[in-house]
Amino acid sequence: MSNLEDLKADVTRLLSEAKDAQAVEQIRIRFLGRKGVIAEHFSRMGDLSPEERRATGAALNDLKICCEKKIKEAADRFASGRSRGDAIDVTLPGRPAHAGLTHPINETLRDICQTFRLAGFDVADGPEIETDWYNFEALNVPADHPARDMHDTFYVKMEEDGGRREKAGEYLLRTHTSPVQIHVMEKQKPPVRIIAPGRVYRRDDDPTHSPVFHQVEGLWVEEGVTLRDLKGLLEYFLKMLFGESVRARFRPSFFPFTEPSLEVDMSCVICGGEDHSAHCRTCKATGWLEVLGAGMVHPNVFRAAGHNPSKVTGLAFGMGVERMAMIRYGIDDIRLFFENDVRFLSQLSGGT
Ligand code: DAH
Repeated sequence: MSNLEDLKADVTRLLSEAKDAQAVEQIRIRFLGRKGVIAEHFSRMGDLSPEERRATGAALNDLKICCEKKIKEAADRFASGRSRGDAIDVTLPGRPAHAGLTHPINETLRDICQTFRLAGFDVADGPEIETDWYNFEALNVPADHPARDMHDTFYVKMEEDGGRREKAGEYLLRTHTSPVQIHVMEKQKPPVRIIAPGRVYRRDDDPTHSPVFHQVEGLWVEEGVTLRDLKGLLEYFLKMLFGESVRARFRPSFFPFTEPSLEVDMSCVICGGEDHSAHCRTCKATGWLEVLGAGMVHPNVFRAAGHNPSKVTGLAFGMGVERMAMIRYGIDDIRLFFENDVRFLSQLSGGT
């Protein structure tokens, strides 16, 4: 009998030392197998007296059941990976902790702002819910301008405090950051040098347009500011953001709030410009990428903001941040920036 107690202790000890499911199986075969230790004890019972046989048989049965239970438990532990050996292997390298990354739009926005800060510009902001006056009227956008079309602009119904009067058509989500020009000029006498980064809204949604996107507006108002300053400033900016080899091209254009108005192109960063552009998809084989709208502040804009247009001149410009980021990172679908797939974002963001 004491022999059987020893056997039980042996099984318990061996199982606690087992390193894997295979070792447990070995123990099972050794004790419970057809030719195993317990089977052998059963086979030797023929030599015993009937009383001894009954007692030993019962004890052996108990031992067998107990061993089966212990072995099954050990096997289950390995099967579910909860065994001590599997759960904590202190020799394995730790799991890396993922630090947060700056979103590529924020990174681009930050670099744009930094470039202008170095040139002496302050950062200004304005409301995203604007009035028709600031978004259009004060910027010399005539009432029949296509930008006012319901297709482009999200109008907002506002309940005015107290009166609870809804003024439809008066309020809107700003369609550009240009209204910040007016807010700033109302508050600040020249010289004014500001950039205004922020969200803007348009009823647009396709691979290169999102209903919410970001712009950076620029305004420099001072006596004697000229178109030459505008060209120099924007050329400096493009070289800072995209590298020294980038060239800028200025084309005459039209914006209601500037006169003259320019559209600014930069040499294609993918193919390097005109001579190599034959198959370039990014610049559509033109060698140039349109990146900014700009111009000299229109006299009517100065008047709307309470300035005398015969006393000051000013330059203004505006750009889309997503467009800059798409060029910078070689992305052809703007929606990738808003889906927030970490696999996409972590490929682009360098810093934290
Ligand atoms: N507000 C224009 C737009 O959203 C961009 C722009 C063009 C801003 C010319 C300016 C400017 O300040 O001078 O398309």
